[in-house]
Amino acid sequence: MADTRYAWRVTSTAPVPTGHVPVLIDAVIRLLEPRPGERYADATAGLGGHAAAVATHLEPDGAVVLNDLDHTSLDRAASAVRAAASGVNVRIIHGSLARLPTHLADQPADLLLADFGFASTQVDDPARGFSFKRDGPLDMRMDTSSPITAAELVRTLSEAELADLIRRFGEERNARAIARKLVAVRAHEPITSTAQFAAIVRSIVGPTGRNRAIDGATRTFQALRIAVNDEIGSIEALLRSIARAAQRLNAGEATWLTPGARIAMISFHSLEDRPVKRVFADLVERGLASALTRRPVRAGPDELARNVRARPAKLRAIRLRGESGIG
Ligand SMILES: C[S@@+](CC[C@H](N)C(=O)[O-])C[C@H]1O[C@@H](n2cnc3c(N)ncnc32)[C@H](O)[C@@H]1O
Repeated sequence: MADTRYAWRVTSTAPVPTGHVPVLIDAVIRLLEPRPGERYADATAGLGGHAAAVATHLEPDGAVVLNDLDHTSLDRAASAVRAAASGVNVRIIHGSLARLPTHLADQPADLLLADFGFASTQVDDPARGFSFKRDGPLDMRMDTSSPITAAELVRTLSEAELADLIRRFGEERNARAIARKLVAVRAHEPITSTAQFAAIVRSIVGPTGRNRAIDGATRTFQALRIAVNDEIGSIEALLRSIARAAQRLNAGEATWLTPGARIAMISFHSLEDRPVKRVFADLVERGLASALTRRPVRAGPDELARNVRARPAKLRAIRLRGESGIG
């Protein structure tokens, strides 16, 4: 993979080496408007690309909370933030973004970002089992301490459950036929590798799927990854916590977000974007938040030339009601 460590810059003088190109970084900074002394919570810290860029605006004494389901990248994320902004306090939390609000009860956040999906380091490492391009164990766990791997789901779910999962989380038309084939194959051989799983899916869908633009295994891999990591359930739980926090703030009660907190979310497909769009619109309609984006912000041609992964990204942002204590 090309070395993208210095592909972007926080300011004209402060390149931050993170090994990862944060998506829509300029829009994130413009919309979140980070200010000195504020607390920023990153629900999906990854390698800390966004967090490092935000942190430079929080000095001299702001705070950054780095949360991720994948503990393997958290130390690197913390290093990236410290290298970019040595004055900010850094806290690391390993766990699902669904539980992030409980960790912030005593230290409410002024800024919240969630950049959904997977990190390039996860998909680039065949041993993590996310890739259908290179063979590896059929794993797909972002949290390697979780007991349920993708292979375990494929081994234990019924045909109907597999079909439902592939249809719901992969929006795959051939879900029933794929599930039937998986069950037929597993009756005489265990399905344990990504190459084997991809070959079974392609034997039904074809090598490139219906629109010929993507690998035939793409949608089913996505479905399995989403199920293994409960990605949509977690997003919905976080959104419910945000809605509850907005109501509490409106009632004058303290919660895990501060009055006037800015919240941004970056989605990579409609299953992620739909609940964000719905909950943000509902909060705006009820007067509990104001919209910072009328339409989702998308990557422009310059960013797309640097980072093809930004193509499907959609950024939505809101500001909760109430005056921020700083600034
Ligand atoms: C696109 S990457 C984030 C990249 C990050 N913004 C950066 O600039 O480096 C998505 C991250 O979300 C994490 N993730 C996915 N689902 C999660 C969940 N339910 N809870 C917490 N983290 C999650 C992944 O492990 C991955 O590190």
